[in-house]
Amino acid sequence: MRSNLIFVFLGVTDAVNAIFNKITHQLFHHKTWKGYWEPIIQLFLPAWRDSYYRAKVVAFKSLRADVVQLTLSPEKKWPIHKAGQHIALTVEVDGKLITRIFTIACGTTTRKSQGVIRLIIKVKDDGALTPFLGNFSKGKWVNISPPMGSFSLPHGKSVLMIAGGSGITPFLAMLEDYQANKKGSLEDKQSIHLIYYAKPHEHLLVEELTEFANHNESFSFQLLSRMHDGDIEPYLAQHGTSHWMVCGPFELYQQVAQTAKLINVPVDSEHFVAFPHLTDNTNSPKQQLIVKHNKTTLTVSNTETLLTQLQKADVPVSYGCGMGICHQCQCIKKSGVVRDVRTGELSDSAEQLIQLCVSQAATDLELQA
Ligand code: FES
Repeated sequence: MRSNLIFVFLGVTDAVNAIFNKITHQLFHHKTWKGYWEPIIQLFLPAWRDSYYRAKVVAFKSLRADVVQLTLSPEKKWPIHKAGQHIALTVEVDGKLITRIFTIACGTTTRKSQGVIRLIIKVKDDGALTPFLGNFSKGKWVNISPPMGSFSLPHGKSVLMIAGGSGITPFLAMLEDYQANKKGSLEDKQSIHLIYYAKPHEHLLVEELTEFANHNESFSFQLLSRMHDGDIEPYLAQHGTSHWMVCGPFELYQQVAQTAKLINVPVDSEHFVAFPHLTDNTNSPKQQLIVKHNKTTLTVSNTETLLTQLQKADVPVSYGCGMGICHQCQCIKKSGVVRDVRTGELSDSAEQLIQLCVSQAATDLELQA
């Protein structure tokens, strides 16, 4: 009953929202009125946060010593995802919100029939979030973003899926929906082959792949490891007429992309797994520069990201993925030039939005959060 009242309270119209926000901003210097009431609302709706969706952990399973499977039940208004999309998962750890990006490892079919989604997560001992996820239990509430990304199975084409390690997850989602949709369309002649690279005996969810293959004559897969089978190039040549999709470590993506270019084959990639390692080092000579961030002034180096240096200086900044995807670290650059660590490109000196986690100072800067 109380939580129903809270939902009514939160469901005011946009116009009322705007008026309340203005009053709250003037009186309490808070961006939104809902944000101001957040601690109270959370007494009734755990993990409620303005502009976030909530999801409840309904099952937790350890797939391997370092891999866990989380089943989440998102709140009803969360949009239906497409197989292959990812989400930002936000969890409060020691009073700080930590966000990481994960692919949804199930298709739309599971979400529609059971109301849940699953994530398969590799636990890294030195990670900020994943060691904590390893201790998750049923009933915990977390925050999730809307589904994001456009990595999806093309229709009517033969497809070669190439996965590395935990990069198998979007393909599991696509195969689930492929199988469900195929039941209704017997004419679809699409064939799919999967090449799955992992360390020996570390391929994930092989039983699911076997089941897909048993139920679909047009799906086949091979499990490879670099140690026993070498690099991927020789396995690609026979699939020159297929559409290639790759999700895995950057080195794997690079090998696939080079071969695809040579033989002129289209290739899609899941960007956050196939993302180049961000490097804090540049070839530029080291320089010390001045950054004004709101009311704080600090000296920074041109060879580390702004996010790293603001964190080292204990300047409070929002951040999430740390790799240029979630935009949580976005702030306004009022003046100065930054370098994008992914591409090496320099910005101009005009006012613009930048992402702190992928930007280095190239000149003195003025930033506004
Ligand atoms: S922290 Fe996600 S984009 Fe910077």
